[in-house]
Amino acid sequence: MGAEAEPREELLELVRSLTERLRVDGELGKPLSYLSRENPGAAAPPAPEPTLSAETSAGDLSALDAVRAELGDCRRCSLGSLRHRLVFGEGNPHAELVFVGEAPGADEDAQGRPFVGRAGQLLTRIIAAMGLKREEVYICNILKCRPPGNRNPQPEEIAACEPFLIRQIEAIRPRVLCALGGFAAHTLLKSEAPITVLRGRFLAYQGIPLMPTYHPAYLLRNSGAKKQVWEDVQMIMKALLEGT
Ligand code: URA
Ligand code: URA
Repeated sequence: MGAEAEPREELLELVRSLTERLRVDGELGKPLSYLSRENPGAAAPPAPEPTLSAETSAGDLSALDAVRAELGDCRRCSLGSLRHRLVFGEGNPHAELVFVGEAPGADEDAQGRPFVGRAGQLLTRIIAAMGLKREEVYICNILKCRPPGNRNPQPEEIAACEPFLIRQIEAIRPRVLCALGGFAAHTLLKSEAPITVLRGRFLAYQGIPLMPTYHPAYLLRNSGAKKQVWEDVQMIMKALLEGT
C-alpha cells in the first residue's frame, strides 16, 4: 500500500539532501571570517616569523596557546568560581577533525581534561573504531567549566564562552567538525531542530562541514542509537578520506 508514498518520500529526501549539499558547498567557498566579524576594523594580523622548515607549525600551535592564555583564570561567567579545573580542550592542534561536546562533567572538572569519564571512554572507543587515535583529533566543549550538577548551560554562560570556541576552531582549522549531542548541535548551528532530525548529514558551521550526532552519554543509556552514530561517523571518515 505504501508503494506510492515511498518513491515520493525518496524524492523529497533526495531534494532535501541536494538542497543541503548546495548550501554546504556555497558556504564552503566563503573564507572563515570570525576575526573580521568580531573586529571589523582590525588590520590583517602580522605575518608569522619565517621558520626554518615548512613543516614547522609553531605559528598555529601558538594561535591555540594564545586562546588558552587569553582565557586565563576565567571569571567571565559565574561558573568560574564553581569549577575545580577549567577544561580548555585537548588533542592535535592541527587536527582534521574536531569533536565538540557540551560541558565538562565531574570527572572532567576534576582532571581538567575533556571527555575522560564514562561518556569520554565511549568517545575514545568511537574514535578508535574510526581508525583514529584520540591524540590525532581535537576534543573540546561549548563550555569550558562544569555547570553545577551537570545542569544545562545557560545563555549567558554560552555567550561568555563561545567566542573562545570560535577562536579555537579558527586556530585549528579542521576539515570536519562533529557536534556531540543536541546541545552542541543547537549552539553551533543556531538551530532548534531536534538532534534526531539534525544528525546524519553534513551541515555547515562557519563554512566547515559539521556532522551532528548523538552524545556518547546518550549512547550509554540508549545503546540502540549506536548504529546511527556509527553511520554518522562513517560519513565523517568518508569525508576525511575523500577530501571535502
Ligand atoms: N560530556 C561533555 O559534553 N563533555 C565532556 O567533556 C564530558 C562529558
Ligand atoms: N538528546 C540530546 O540532547 N542528545 C543526544 O545525543 C540524544 C538526545
